[in-house]
Amino acid sequence: MSSTAPWWRSAVIYQVYIRSFADGNGDGIGDIAGIHSRLPYLKSLGIDAIWINPWYKSPMADHGYDVADFRAIDPRFGTMAEAEALIEEAHRHGIRVIPDIVPNHVSDQHAWFRAALAAGPGSAERERFVFRPGRGPDGAEPPNDWMSCFGGPAWTRLPDGQWYLHLFAPEQPDLNWEHPDVRAEFEDILRFWFSRGVDGFRIDVAHGLVKHPELPDLPPRRDPDAPAPAERVPHPHWDRDEVHEIYRAWRRVADEFPGDRSFVAEAWADSPARLANYVRQDRLHTAFNFDFLMASWDARQLREVIDGSLTTLGSVGAPATWVLSNHDVTRHPSRFGRKVVKKWVANETYRPEGPLDFELGTRRARAAALLMLSLPGGAYVYQGEELGLPEVEDLPDEVLQDPCWERSGHADRGRDGCRVPLPWSGQEAPFGFSPEGATGEPWLPQPALWKDHSVEAQTGDATSMLELYRRALHLRRGLPALGEGDMTWLDAPAGVLAFTREPGFVCVVNLSAEPYQLPEHTSLLLASGPVEDGLLPQDHAVWLSR
Ligand code: NOJ
Ligand code: CA
Repeated sequence: MSSTAPWWRSAVIYQVYIRSFADGNGDGIGDIAGIHSRLPYLKSLGIDAIWINPWYKSPMADHGYDVADFRAIDPRFGTMAEAEALIEEAHRHGIRVIPDIVPNHVSDQHAWFRAALAAGPGSAERERFVFRPGRGPDGAEPPNDWMSCFGGPAWTRLPDGQWYLHLFAPEQPDLNWEHPDVRAEFEDILRFWFSRGVDGFRIDVAHGLVKHPELPDLPPRRDPDAPAPAERVPHPHWDRDEVHEIYRAWRRVADEFPGDRSFVAEAWADSPARLANYVRQDRLHTAFNFDFLMASWDARQLREVIDGSLTTLGSVGAPATWVLSNHDVTRHPSRFGRKVVKKWVANETYRPEGPLDFELGTRRARAAALLMLSLPGGAYVYQGEELGLPEVEDLPDEVLQDPCWERSGHADRGRDGCRVPLPWSGQEAPFGFSPEGATGEPWLPQPALWKDHSVEAQTGDATSMLELYRRALHLRRGLPALGEGDMTWLDAPAGVLAFTREPGFVCVVNLSAEPYQLPEHTSLLLASGPVEDGLLPQDHAVWLSR
């Protein structure tokens, strides 16, 4: 790739789930001071940028995705001065910083929503949100049948009789993006942070902002196994075409600033073509490729997703991004350690079922890392993925905090299992997550086996997940073939993925039961596990030099 191409076309971006990364002040909750102190770790890992989950002032009904003030840092996470110092210090380490922005909804404690409640039905203040009368006698039924992503109806009724829309928790009222105040406010928030030096934004629920003006009921649910209809039926609140006008305006804002500022969209689209609409030249720069994350450990599926993503995104001039895990989904060693039984549909919750074979999941996760990091484009690493952390599936009911748990009537245990505070060192909790003499316990309990997964335990152990990530990331930095560019598939039996990247690089992943004879090569750069007599065993991957 040419060295003048903007950084975001090939960056490896490390996701910092701030609550669980590192606790600087010892209250058991991760914070900015904690991130600051771990910058040397991130630097030595070899990543290019960090995406930090929301750090704004928030009542934490959804751990920061309910923002009360976008221009203030939540005191649990630190201060504005600390945020500014972190951005500066990260830059000194050669690490870019991307905060999260949450434009679909705000907190019910946001000044606008409080004003809307106080001003009452029919007021101008309520126009910034989606307030409606109910249906049925006395308006006692919600205005339509939309569902909250966390379970239950997407509407809550106020004592004055009106209902307001929340696609997530009731504490997260949806904004009305038809309102000019909303558009102007977010452009201003972008400028506020761009002028403080941030390198871009991750856009939360980027596909949800615009709703059908008439708020119709949902279309009938489609059988995920049935073939897609010839003509796409627009959804009343997901991925509506009108949303792109907003991102054209945001692009213009980003372009006002020097350096390559960039956006990454969290957009769950139902095809690569729909996703590509977000990253056309006049819109956002990149979007998470959730098709890759949703794919099973299956060679044919993975190859289809890789080809489909590269062709479709390439047709609009955008780079692909690859992602295996984030703070909303079951950690991938725990997904891959199971037979996939259910089909994973965009915008629907997926929880793996059946017994876990963690060794199998780990073997596959190691191979998947080598696959992901050698594909053309950028990649995301979710904190703890480099430590091979499993999903913590046995958190006691009483510690669960994700709103999904209550809202689903305890049917869905939610996302806490992938958000357990990281182990850094030591033999017992808090495993270096909080400093010596901490007054607070980690906000979620860490399992005893975290001791074997800590940064300290893995450092220097050539067989560890951490050293595999370190070596892969360092090789990736040095190898001109990796990052953005082309790839060419090599002929290989069913179940084997093999491709070249020029100059002189080959990646082979064996997902079949038969050991695979490696193609001719001059050296073996990296292997996800032992390779003997040039035979690549099942669920292993290698990087070769030709
Ligand atoms: C997506 C975020 O990743 C998730 O954590 C959050 O709960 C929802 N958006 C609502 O903001
Ligand atoms: Ca703290």
